[in-house]
Amino acid sequence: MKQILIIGGSGAIGSALISEYDNNDIHITVTSRKKQNLDPHINQITYDYDQQDEINLNGEIKFDLIIFATGHLHNEHYKPEKSLKEIDKNAFQFSYHINCIAPLILLRQLTNNLTDHTKIVFLSARVGSISENELGGWYAYRMSKAALNMMIKNLSIELRRKYKNIIVCGMHPGTVDSKLSKPYSGFVKHEIFTPSKSAAMLKKVIDELSLKHSGKTYDYAFQEIAY
Ligand SMILES: NC(=O)c1ccc[n+]([C@@H]2O[C@H](COP(=O)([O-])OP(=O)(O)OC[C@H]3O[C@@H](n4cnc5c(N)ncnc54)[C@H](OP(=O)(O)O)[C@@H]3O)[C@@H](O)[C@H]2O)c1
Repeated sequence: MKQILIIGGSGAIGSALISEYDNNDIHITVTSRKKQNLDPHINQITYDYDQQDEINLNGEIKFDLIIFATGHLHNEHYKPEKSLKEIDKNAFQFSYHINCIAPLILLRQLTNNLTDHTKIVFLSARVGSISENELGGWYAYRMSKAALNMMIKNLSIELRRKYKNIIVCGMHPGTVDSKLSKPYSGFVKHEIFTPSKSAAMLKKVIDELSLKHSGKTYDYAFQEIAY
């Protein structure tokens, strides 16, 4: 039976990924800050990036796939910046913490749960691409996702030394109807995906990932996103 770990199962895309992967051949473990109302056959763990506790996970479980579906764009304290005058140190620290540092610290705790063929996927974002940035703004979110992309590249190099077939990738889910995107999706001209449509497309791409893709970021249609 395949073992899958989804970090951030309470989010719109995280929840849709649980439904997408939930079948008889797969055992799912999910982390979220608060306990969710999930079917009992799904293994639930509460884990909060803000607390930085040890994750309560059995080191015996070897995961075939780990998906980090967490992320931060805005909350009641911080909004994405439109210009330099809105730059705030705490907002930056928070974005970097949630979007790349905390996931990396969590992954450090999962090294006993990796196998030679584990796929590790981080939900990144197209706006983290430096070469595709034509609009500017959203400093903390863009920069923290660009940092995440560097982290993905680093991990792909380091982990391959020990696990010969491990794959580490970033993935852009498209613009998806969620708490994260809601305040900004009114300005979007292209299709806004439902979480389930995005999750189905992401699963298809994840299924196709091979060693040559490791270290890079792809969108829901399997197009590579340049750094
Ligand atoms: N939606 C889009 O259009 C879009 C576009 C590009 C990229 N993405 C990326 O896709 C990922 C998922 O986004 P989404 O749209 O599904 O957003 P969402 O519905 O707001 O989900 C965000 C997830 O991150 C978790 N999270 C936030 N802060 C956390 C913290 N301090 N500790 C632990 N978990 C925390 C949330 O947990 P709680 O439920 O407990 O708050 C939730 O599970 C993010 O990385 C986002 O950047 C989304």
